[in-house]
Amino acid sequence: MNGTIIETKNLTKVYNGKIKAVSDLNLEIKEGEIYGLAGPNGAGKTTTINMLITRIAPTGGTATVGGFDIAKNSLAVRKLIGVVPQDFTADEDLTGRENLMMVSQFYDVPRAKAQENIRTLLKLVDLEEAADRYVRTYSGGMRKRLELIIGLVHEPRILFLDEPTLGLDVQTRMQMWNYVKEIQKRLNVTIILTSHYLEEIDELAARVSIIDHGKVLITGSPAELKTSLKGDIITITLSDQQSAELIKTIPDAVEVTDAGQNTVKIKVVNADDSLPAIINFISQHKLSTIKLTVVKPTLDEVFLEYTGRSIREEEGGMDRMKVAMNMRRARR
Ligand SMILES: Nc1ncnc2c1ncn2[C@@H]1O[C@H](COP(=O)(O)OP(=O)(O)OP(=O)(O)O)[C@@H](O)[C@H]1O
Ligand SMILES: [Mg+2]
Repeated sequence: MNGTIIETKNLTKVYNGKIKAVSDLNLEIKEGEIYGLAGPNGAGKTTTINMLITRIAPTGGTATVGGFDIAKNSLAVRKLIGVVPQDFTADEDLTGRENLMMVSQFYDVPRAKAQENIRTLLKLVDLEEAADRYVRTYSGGMRKRLELIIGLVHEPRILFLDEPTLGLDVQTRMQMWNYVKEIQKRLNVTIILTSHYLEEIDELAARVSIIDHGKVLITGSPAELKTSLKGDIITITLSDQQSAELIKTIPDAVEVTDAGQNTVKIKVVNADDSLPAIINFISQHKLSTIKLTVVKPTLDEVFLEYTGRSIREEEGGMDRMKVAMNMRRARR
């Protein structure tokens, strides 16, 4: 069970001979794991997935999915995979069950088998009661759950989830996480997940690659990435500039940065160990502090460290989602 199920070697995609969306990407994804691809808008996540699912051809490098080369054996690859794309695919004028049946037929799943799979899947995501209602009456969360199982009707070994919770509110997103975990456990599929929401990757992924400008910046388990920062951040605001300067000389700090307005950020390996010394320093030098906070790193900090910017600044997820949905409505 611990073999490699997806491997990319210098996978590259250049659009129209000029836009390098994915650049020499090397990934190794193990069978049965949930693997996260994290990165800001335009990082190359969807392009990477589209190559792995054989929807678009790479312009360089190679990749195997379930042992099959994506360029030479795309049919074999397609049989192994399920895809839940970033945009909605379900037909709003059909019921949930009809959508699932239609996709089953597309994959030539025998009728009785399809009906049985669909029953199991609907149950897995608590959509049994809504199954025979038109999709247009579903809430955003229900639609995403339906999309999730549409990708599973033909019992794929590998499931690609592109932004599975984009635009959902926090509570509904957390519900989705439980469904994804349950699916991974019960159906034993390998899941490749992209997300802007780093807490989602942290919660779900066994390993993650942070990508930006089509390149992998770092790969590891969320815990490894957070530890790699060697840094809890202690932020201290002092009453005056002189005190702020003095606190910068504190021993034991991995890094000290001036955050302006008499505020200093002190990075330490472990705040629990360093705080007593810092508090002693403050009292020895009779410094007057206004505020002191301790933040343990999250994947957001990891992202900031490696990309030099915050993913939040980049995020246009909600707005883009709304635009996409309005466009769908307008087309109808
Ligand atoms: N069909 C296309 N033709 C030309 N350029 C494209 C095409 N698809 C994507 N791009 C460009 O390739 C880059 C990577 O886009 P991609 O959609 O893979 O990023 P992403 O990480 O999925 O972003 P998002 O978070 O917005 O979904 C971007 O610069 C994008 O504008
Ligand atoms: Mg995308």
